[in-house]
Amino acid sequence: MGETILEVSKLVKIYGEAKGEGATTAVDGVDLSITKGEFIAIMGPSGSGKTTLLQLMSGIDAPTSGEVYINGREISEMNGDELALFRRSQLGFVFQEFNLLDSLTVKENMIVPMVLEKKPIKEMEEKARELSELFGIDAIMDKYPFNISGGQQQRTAVSRSLVNDPSIIFADEPTGNLDSKSSTVIMECFEKIVKELSTTVVVVTHDVFAASYCRKVVFIKDGKIDSYIIRKGDRKEFLNQIMDNLAVLGGRSRDI
Ligand SMILES: Nc1ncnc2c1ncn2[C@@H]1O[C@H](COP(=O)(O)OP(=O)(O)O)[C@@H](O)[C@H]1O
Ligand SMILES: [Mg+2]
Repeated sequence: MGETILEVSKLVKIYGEAKGEGATTAVDGVDLSITKGEFIAIMGPSGSGKTTLLQLMSGIDAPTSGEVYINGREISEMNGDELALFRRSQLGFVFQEFNLLDSLTVKENMIVPMVLEKKPIKEMEEKARELSELFGIDAIMDKYPFNISGGQQQRTAVSRSLVNDPSIIFADEPTGNLDSKSSTVIMECFEKIVKELSTTVVVVTHDVFAASYCRKVVFIKDGKIDSYIIRKGDRKEFLNQIMDNLAVLGGRSRDI
């Protein structure tokens, strides 16, 4: 076993508790440990608590109770400013909706997080070029988001998530708005990130195809971790194993 990079303990998130009625327990006592360099998918049917868990693990939202440690630091104890700084310098995010700024070019979108970190201009330029070449978007650096495909937009978002050399990338349904060809390209980008940059990647998804690219899949049901499987053979074999597990899990849903 390698070094632990992320650890959550007895994590709970209850929504709407203050209002009294209709409280929802979205995350219900999750313990999870993620090793450095891991490529992990968290899977479960719609409403099972995947997005909430990702938001708690990455400090986007605060847990009702429980602890989150990243690189040995308890982020669930940090105040707002500290947390914002930590997220910006140590974590990278990719979302289903790409979340690019429409008025900025591909290159400018990539540079924004480095500007916030006050990096030297030369370093920003080099980093943007390096990542754009790695992900095959170097030819569209001066285009605007509305003039490129969804797959290209997501590759821009992936590049942007990496500019400050984060130790973990969190992706929430990164293939949710993509066709199968672009989904393949994006999952191959994550594969590259793990292999070539040794970055830890955590993907939250209900997409079996996307999950099959990962090395490990953790299944979540009703806010609780149900089980996990580790990839041993090729991707197709893993995909079948994931489907079998989901059937047992009782996901059996319209999702699949
Ligand atoms: N901001 C919120 N306020 C109230 N309930 C929420 C909120 N976000 C999510 N939920 C509820 O928490 C549960 C888990 O949601 P979510 O984490 O989005 O699941 P998933 O990503 O697996 O679809 C669902 O029942 C959902 O309706
Ligand atoms: Mg979700």
